[in-house]
Amino acid sequence: MTARKLTFEIFRYNPEDPESKPHMQEFTLAEEPYMTLFRALNMIREEQDTGLQFDFSCRSAVCGSCGMMVNGRPTLACKTLTSDLADTVRLHPLPAFKLIGDLSVDTGTWFRAMAEQVGAWVHERAPFDPKAVEEPMDDELAAAIYESDRCIECGCCVASCGVANVRPGFVAPAGMNRIARFMMDPRDARSDTDWFDVVSNDDGVFGCIGLMACHDVCPKELPLLEVYAYLRRRALGTAFLKKA
Ligand code: SF4
Ligand code: FES
Repeated sequence: MTARKLTFEIFRYNPEDPESKPHMQEFTLAEEPYMTLFRALNMIREEQDTGLQFDFSCRSAVCGSCGMMVNGRPTLACKTLTSDLADTVRLHPLPAFKLIGDLSVDTGTWFRAMAEQVGAWVHERAPFDPKAVEEPMDDELAAAIYESDRCIECGCCVASCGVANVRPGFVAPAGMNRIARFMMDPRDARSDTDWFDVVSNDDGVFGCIGLMACHDVCPKELPLLEVYAYLRRRALGTAFLKKA
């Protein structure tokens, strides 16, 4: 059987080069069995254009580096089989992040700023005591925290979010998930009133306009709809307590 010919239309732009202008460039490739976009892009770089920029590390949906827009939808390139795509594939970098070049974006700076904004670490009640006995945690709660911790910081949910694309301080679905993770953690000393100040504003849950594309695109299938519902309920509960 003759291999299918794939056409890749790839966004090209080097912001460091004053001569460079954003444009689409076409490449063609013969499809291989079980070919992923990871494989296809590496073949293009090896055989047709060594200057093509894109990011990969684990190639198994674990590191979160390879998020990109595939036919307008944010997804992980290493997890995408070309057999699931039409003959022509359009690739763009994730929006909402600083462009490094072509398909490569800087998600690290965004995630670092978000982590600092929401205080994404356990705020302890007492100084660390290495001799203290470990506090047990309920299995169900530990599982819920673990579920939130499965986020690989790929940025797909951020790229899909209408608000994150226009409001730089919005903590976005990945940030909401991070807040919920520490809010649930009984080792975190922050009170509901402390959390209220982090989450109950336009940079937090009340900035969300409810399109919920984040829930559809998350490659780790994190329950982002439930995360928003959980945060809204907690925020409203605190608001009523504050009023009482
Ligand atoms: Fe990626 Fe999902 Fe984490 Fe968003 S919540 S950064 S889509 S893994
Ligand atoms: Fe690591 Fe795709 S290369 S998630």
